[in-house]
Amino acid sequence: MEAIAKAHTNIALIKYWGKRDETLFLPMNSSLSITLDRFYTTTAVQFCSCLNKDVFLLNGQIASEAETMKIVAFLDHVRNIAGKNMYAIVNSVNKVPTAAGFASSASGFAALAAAATKAIGMDTDNKTLSQIARQGSGSACRSIYGGYVEWQKGEEVDGSDSFAKPISDKQDWNLSVLSCLVASNEKKVLSREGMKRTVETSPFYKGWLDTVEKDLVQAKRAIAERDFEMLGTVVEANALKMHATTLGANPPFMYWQSATLEVMEHVQQLRTSGIEAYFTIDAGPNVKVICHQKDEQAVLEHLATLPSVQNVYLCHPGPGISYLPDTATENGSKLFYKTYHQSNCENKTSHT
Ligand code: ADP
Ligand code: DP6
Repeated sequence: MEAIAKAHTNIALIKYWGKRDETLFLPMNSSLSITLDRFYTTTAVQFCSCLNKDVFLLNGQIASEAETMKIVAFLDHVRNIAGKNMYAIVNSVNKVPTAAGFASSASGFAALAAAATKAIGMDTDNKTLSQIARQGSGSACRSIYGGYVEWQKGEEVDGSDSFAKPISDKQDWNLSVLSCLVASNEKKVLSREGMKRTVETSPFYKGWLDTVEKDLVQAKRAIAERDFEMLGTVVEANALKMHATTLGANPPFMYWQSATLEVMEHVQQLRTSGIEAYFTIDAGPNVKVICHQKDEQAVLEHLATLPSVQNVYLCHPGPGISYLPDTATENGSKLFYKTYHQSNCENKTSHT
């Protein structure tokens, strides 16, 4: 019972920031993203009745207890739905910096949802997969789909109307996203903890909630009308508002570094000089710059000259989830399974 899935990261244009239900990962607000072609995760899942616990291998190394517990909780959910009780080996490789504001949790849990459901024998449609992925990491529900994707927050207490769906017929607006790496170290305040603290303590959170749905309407209208100035303006303002809520939290925190500000200022200067470019920033110091494809080389060259920018990754709208043949070896899974089984599976205990 093995499956391998690939999922791409997404960058939020209108941010998901805050949960109304921590257990079901139900958001306070709806959000909108672009799935990116450049960054992705491949995850191989193998369920086996001879395992006596779940094993999580991330980027070639056995993950920490805390990281593994998140995977165990997620697999418990999948086992529950499937009515099966075997443990699994999960072998995941991020082709994206982990926990640095490049959305590794989105591609990570989308790939895990797709691989785990398939490996356990479920035949899942994308809407259900989006709801399952959501319960690993909220933003992962959007990475099930390619292109421009909306996550509707839903109203139901059981989360049955909280899932992502692609924005109809506008997948082909091929904007460019330049992801600027200014720091690759893992952030101190993970998104999960950051949004919780903000909801619970920041007086600015109310301002966020009062305006975010209006931002979403404007962003969707801009996409429908292909009005880049309207889109960029609301995207930049929405990111700034999200980050402003963190400054009012107790204790306060911020994801920006001086390099973050340098890139933001530079983008605003580009606009003054006539190049249409706008920034957005997720929960980390790295900045994503959005521009027309015709301007991408000019913007890239400008950004690459900044001393604080370590790398610029050129991205475009990317695809939704896909499955790889179980002969795929890119995660080195086969070798790991064989070695792990040889040394750990003499005790044929099943998960009861
Ligand atoms: P990021 O900006 O990278 O998404 P987050 O703080 O939102 O940062 O999420 C990072 C967390 O996502 C990690 O601590 C880990 O729990 C989870 N994660 C990252 N990569 C994977 C993966 N490939 N599979 C499962 N979980 C992952
Ligand atoms: C700032 O989806 O990583 O990137 O649901 O707790 O796992 P959890 O959080 P996560 O948060 C993403 C926050 C964001 C905005 C966004 O992607 O919409």
